[in-house]
Amino acid sequence: MTDGCPLHFDHYEHALQDDPYPTYARMRAEAPLYHNEEHDFWVLSRHRDLHRAFRSDDVFSNRMGVSLDPSSWNENAHLVTSFLGMDPPEQTRLRKLVSRGFTPKRVADLEPRIAEISAHYLDKAVAQGEFDWIGEFAGKFPMDVISELLGVPEADRDEVRRYADLLVVREDGLRDVPPAGFEAAIWLFGYYGELLAERKARPGDDLVSALLSAEDEGQRMTDQELTAFLFLMVVAGNETTTKLLGNAVRNLALHPDQRAAVFADPGLVEPWIEETLRYEASSQLLARLTTKDFTVDGVTCPAGSKIMFNIGAANHDHEVFTDAEEFDIRRDKAELSQHIAFGGGRHYCLGANLARLEASIALHQLVERCSSIEVAGEPVRFYSANVRGYASLPVRVQRR
Ligand code: HEM
Repeated sequence: MTDGCPLHFDHYEHALQDDPYPTYARMRAEAPLYHNEEHDFWVLSRHRDLHRAFRSDDVFSNRMGVSLDPSSWNENAHLVTSFLGMDPPEQTRLRKLVSRGFTPKRVADLEPRIAEISAHYLDKAVAQGEFDWIGEFAGKFPMDVISELLGVPEADRDEVRRYADLLVVREDGLRDVPPAGFEAAIWLFGYYGELLAERKARPGDDLVSALLSAEDEGQRMTDQELTAFLFLMVVAGNETTTKLLGNAVRNLALHPDQRAAVFADPGLVEPWIEETLRYEASSQLLARLTTKDFTVDGVTCPAGSKIMFNIGAANHDHEVFTDAEEFDIRRDKAELSQHIAFGGGRHYCLGANLARLEASIALHQLVERCSSIEVAGEPVRFYSANVRGYASLPVRVQRR
């Protein structure tokens, strides 16, 4: 954001700002449908417009993917992002097949294992008194949960996590995936290919085995579709949850009165999670391709344009949220339920239940073990076009 003016909005920089929302607020008011001429993309920012856009399948297509990173925006996006990079009827068919295996019951049954994984990292971290919340906990726990879900053997999990982490690293000044990210993607595709072969030979009770046998009207997923889906689980479910946990702790620590309330009453953990999702959504921007002209307040974005759904701004829309720029875990429940951190419509986050369960287990465990948490050093923001959160968050805890 060169001078804070919405018309110089740079979608890569907002994730690094500590307080980008006043600019977003102006953007919503002055240019609800904004065109960045330099990079030739459009941005849609009001809550009501996004609500409509998420459900306008005839106007907004996912077939070029959901990221404007030059290497991601192309017709082959679905090869690495599965049905996230597809439109109906293909998206509907695959999502239905996946939903046969990735059921609410499977997620609920995972609860005891999620609790064990969380406690494993949290106990070690809390025992130190001071630690990096991301490095020791939030950056490790979500990927291990995905590995547990998929049936990745425990002995392989550290290595899988190492490559999954490389996938999301972006370099300052480089507006694309760095070479290490490509290498990590190739490694993960190879690994998941081997995992599929192994499960075909020896099925287990994991999600991969369930998906191998999932059928809809006599159709099954091909190996290519399966590997792309496993890769999507990493892209969609790992760093988003890491960022949620980091943003939760940072924002609570910035509000000592709310922090005291949560540590005194664990019943406030759930609203704490939801307000974090609203206030600092992990995925701030989602890209689409317009397949028809789209008009807002007399401004028309033509068919064939790149457009961003600005979730971060919509979640701070004063038309929907009272004192939208304030972090407030006591926000009215009905109002809070309007946040769109998990998207909407046919691509609504398939892992929303799992993300909420993970965050709930982790933060309840934190509150059980500690009487408070504070930031004990300079947090480092994560460099990314659309993901908002921390790469490092030094904290100090008081144990109970
Ligand atoms: C805080 C954590 C998370 C956030 C904020 C989040 C956010 C989102 C959003 C905004 C979308 C919609 C994308 C679009 O419309 O283009 C999405 C889709 C998706 N998410 Fe999540 N997600 C989270 C965690 C997870 C987890 C833990 C999983 C699974 C392990 C997951 C799996 C998926 C999948 C498979 C899709 C694609 C759905 C489709 O295209 O039909 N997500 N997520």
